[in-house]
Amino acid sequence: MTELAIQRLTTDDLERLVVLESCQPHPGSRRQLEAALNDEDSCVLGAEVAGELVGHAVVVRLPFEAELQAILVVPAMRRRGLAAALLEAVLEQGRQWRSERVLLEVRAGNASAIRLYRRAGFSEDGRRRGYYPPLEDRADANREDAILMSRRP
Ligand SMILES: CC(C)(COP(=O)(O)OP(=O)(O)OC[C@H]1O[C@@H](n2cnc3c(N)ncnc32)[C@H](O)[C@@H]1OP(=O)(O)O)[C@@H](O)C(=O)NCCC(=O)NCCS
Repeated sequence: MTELAIQRLTTDDLERLVVLESCQPHPGSRRQLEAALNDEDSCVLGAEVAGELVGHAVVVRLPFEAELQAILVVPAMRRRGLAAALLEAVLEQGRQWRSERVLLEVRAGNASAIRLYRRAGFSEDGRRRGYYPPLEDRADANREDAILMSRRP
């Protein structure tokens, strides 16, 4: 894609990150985002198109592994390969950290994210039953399984 740039974000990008997060139903809080930007063991990657922040991914360094904690692309820019490009940058960060694997957890009902991860070479390691609270605040809504996935960076 023309004019796509993926780069590590800094505390200077906090406001842009807060706006980006607000495009989803359960946005990360300003405090969480600021903590990630300030944490030397976290890497917040931003995807910019024509200078506008349209996606981000958060990856955290663990003792042996790296964990993808968030990935998001604004709805208007989806299905253009931006998340795939962010994931490639996440894997590159894992290689720089010499992580043995990159781990992630995803809601069992999040078909688009699961397809994205499989396509990027992640495979399923197991499930945590009923790990996530229901997305909708309804009395009859069920908790959702978490699918655990990983790959070598
Ligand atoms: C999941 C998400 C990050 C994908 O972003 P994206 O930029 O649209 O993804 P890409 O364009 O890079 O897609 C790469 C591949 O993932 C799969 N994919 C992505 N979105 C999909 C969708 N809506 N339906 C089916 N497959 C999808 C496809 O295989 C796609 O390749 P293709 O377009 O060549 O078929 C985006 O939908 C999003 O921000 N969702 C909300 C946040 C979220 O659920 N994050 C994951 C939490 S674990």
